[in-house]
Amino acid sequence: MAAKDQMWRREDLSKRFLEGVRRAIPLADYQIRIILLLIGKTIPKAASFLDLGCGDGILGRAILSQYPKARGVFLDFSPTMIEAARKKSPKNKKLSFFTQDYGKPSWVNAIKGSGKFDVIVSGFSVHHQPDKRKREIYKEVFGLLNPGGLFLNLEHVSSPSPRLQRIFDEFFVDSLYSYHRRIGSGKTRGEIARDHYKSPLRKSNLLSPLDIQCSWLRKIGFKEVDCYLKVFELALFGGIRPGE
Ligand SMILES: C[S@@+](CC[C@H](N)C(=O)[O-])C[C@H]1O[C@@H](n2cnc3c(N)ncnc32)[C@H](O)[C@@H]1O
Repeated sequence: MAAKDQMWRREDLSKRFLEGVRRAIPLADYQIRIILLLIGKTIPKAASFLDLGCGDGILGRAILSQYPKARGVFLDFSPTMIEAARKKSPKNKKLSFFTQDYGKPSWVNAIKGSGKFDVIVSGFSVHHQPDKRKREIYKEVFGLLNPGGLFLNLEHVSSPSPRLQRIFDEFFVDSLYSYHRRIGSGKTRGEIARDHYKSPLRKSNLLSPLDIQCSWLRKIGFKEVDCYLKVFELALFGGIRPGE
């Protein structure tokens, strides 16, 4: 049995996410639109990015669509995900791929040779870390940003009550079901709900409130910290490392 924060290393879970969940995430296109808008307005000439917990690299590739010449680092501890990110990315010497666990501080050293970044994005990833480590990761991210650099965390955060959590879960299952109907997977809503509620990944979630996470970012020194988009437990938040 894999440790809770290591579940994503399982190939079956990585594949199920890429094939059956990623494109069903509510507001997925809109989330990417807002990420690109914020980058464009904050760092119009962004030249480098890090996609932390990149999966198949969907967020990093979105950045590349706006900044094709950017230097980019894709980092994930799942070999299946890093392979998918590598396959889907343009063949380009400015892109590098690291199989690294950011749950351990050593990841920072492992990518040291890649320099600092104008933009660091992370998508639905950090919420498997305990709060203490989440804060440390946010500090590490701060240290890896160029002055004026932007951190955007598209993240699964906690609901303020079990009632709102139930509403979110049913909303999410509906979204998964309508996606599966569109692609003709033949799965019933009952099957999808069972997969959702019984997923080992769900048991490994360590969700934290959005406002607390924003307060951590402020304490670390980020400015303009805000939640830029949110639907129930899916939030895009972050901040800017002040210029020098
Ligand atoms: C829900 S997927 C999201 C992937 C991608 N960011 C996206 O938006 O589609 C979470 C990703 O975070 C990665 N991940 C989780 N914990 C990690 C860790 N400690 N170190 C590196 N990657 C991690 C998983 O392997 C997985 O690819």
